[in-house]
Amino acid sequence: MDDTNPTSATAAAQAALIKQAIAQGPITEAYQADPQQVVHELNQLRATEITSFLQYKQHAYMAVSMLAPGLKDDFEAHATLELQHADRLAMRIQQLGGVPIFNPAEIATKAAAVGVRPEQGPTLTDMVIENLLLERRQVVEYTALIRELGDRDPTTRRLLVDILADTEQHASELADYLKRQADTRA
Ligand SMILES: [Fe+2]
Ligand SMILES: [Fe+2]
Repeated sequence: MDDTNPTSATAAAQAALIKQAIAQGPITEAYQADPQQVVHELNQLRATEITSFLQYKQHAYMAVSMLAPGLKDDFEAHATLELQHADRLAMRIQQLGGVPIFNPAEIATKAAAVGVRPEQGPTLTDMVIENLLLERRQVVEYTALIRELGDRDPTTRRLLVDILADTEQHASELADYLKRQADTRA
């Protein structure tokens, strides 16, 4: 093969371009973030979502009080959404060339690193407070990463903003429930 031949040089350049396209998928020279770093952060957030899913499921199993029949359904609905958040983050991790973490011990360690640990208090009110605190931890983490990314990875940013909105809504609902509780007790 003669690389000095302009035709074969063009062919070689084209082959290199295709090879790079296959290896990098959606990551082009326009991508300004560090994909590995973003994958690391997304895995961390995903670990908090899986913990949140498990915690809400646990609370739904345990919420049998006649005093708050709707709470079990609320916990169940939140759990479903947390799993969707984990799925959406996993899809983005894969697109960025990463691997979603699936080892439970590693997931627990990553979630704990940002202050998220599964909790199950003895009363319904305790559970709602635990969920509220977890959602608020997530609000902090999502907001920080959104700021950090700026416009360097618009697709990840949009995903994070979306999940943040759900998370803030959950926190708001839980806080409202606790306010109502306080009002009826007063
Ligand atoms: Fe979530
Ligand atoms: Fe949530």
